[in-house]
Amino acid sequence: MSAPNPPTPVLDVRNLSVVYAGNRALSVAQFQLHEGELAGIVGANGAGKSTFANALLGWSRGAPKVTGDVLLDGQSISALNTPERVRRGLLLIPESDLVFATMSVAENLTHAASPAQASGRRIYTTDEIYDLFPNLAERRDHLGGQLSGGERQMLGIARALRLAPRVLMLDEPSIGLAPKLVSVVLQTVRTLVNEGLTVLLVEQNVKAAIRAVDRLILLERGQILAEGPVEEMKADPRVADAYLGADS
Ligand SMILES: Nc1ncnc2c1ncn2[C@@H]1O[C@H](COP(=O)(O)OP(=O)(O)OP(=O)(O)O)[C@@H](O)[C@H]1O
Ligand SMILES: [Mg+2]
Repeated sequence: MSAPNPPTPVLDVRNLSVVYAGNRALSVAQFQLHEGELAGIVGANGAGKSTFANALLGWSRGAPKVTGDVLLDGQSISALNTPERVRRGLLLIPESDLVFATMSVAENLTHAASPAQASGRRIYTTDEIYDLFPNLAERRDHLGGQLSGGERQMLGIARALRLAPRVLMLDEPSIGLAPKLVSVVLQTVRTLVNEGLTVLLVEQNVKAAIRAVDRLILLERGQILAEGPVEEMKADPRVADAYLGADS
């Protein structure tokens, strides 16, 4: 009997390269994200984490030369522009500007109009979102700009859930948040993953990422230096010595 075929990865990245005016910001030969997985890309400032997430979405700051191939559920999306990739369920919550400041929480959610065709992807209703995020339910009439940093992160995630994500990417959701709120946000992400969502988390806060993810990918100078199950990676000196310190 032959072995069953391994499942098709949700995201499959091949030879992805981003070059700014001769400087290579990213060079990833191979990367896969699997169904229902919470994977974390970590690394220092300027390691290329945002460049990687943005390149998956077909977006970049400035005008770099981007080459390589990205497959979503086995189909190449490299020729698609960013709005087309979003329609396929590739969603990124960026480092800033996650919500509309002059719209209420409720308007932010209704403005994120669910796609007509989400072929099997789950679209969260606003009621489900308010169950998941009680703080947002309480503040549904408040303006986006009046929310705390943590509430803005939650609303950013909530807006993405309205758009039927196939893959949810979060770029540094911990930034600017108190440690307690960081764990609340990441626990919410874990709840969504337990319900079946596939998530790629980008984090400079390695300690926080390690507590949340299944698999850790260490990016340095635009390259994957090491990756593996989080329990193994925690013990890897390249992670432990550089990012975890003696107290972890
Ligand atoms: N528009 C641009 N023009 C030139 N270089 C750029 C541009 N955008 C990013 N870079 C370079 O690409 C490299 C990776 O940047 P990137 O923003 O991906 O880092 P990062 O890992 O997300 O860092 P941080 O944790 O600070 O957000 C950096 O050296 C950066 O200077
Ligand atoms: Mg970044």
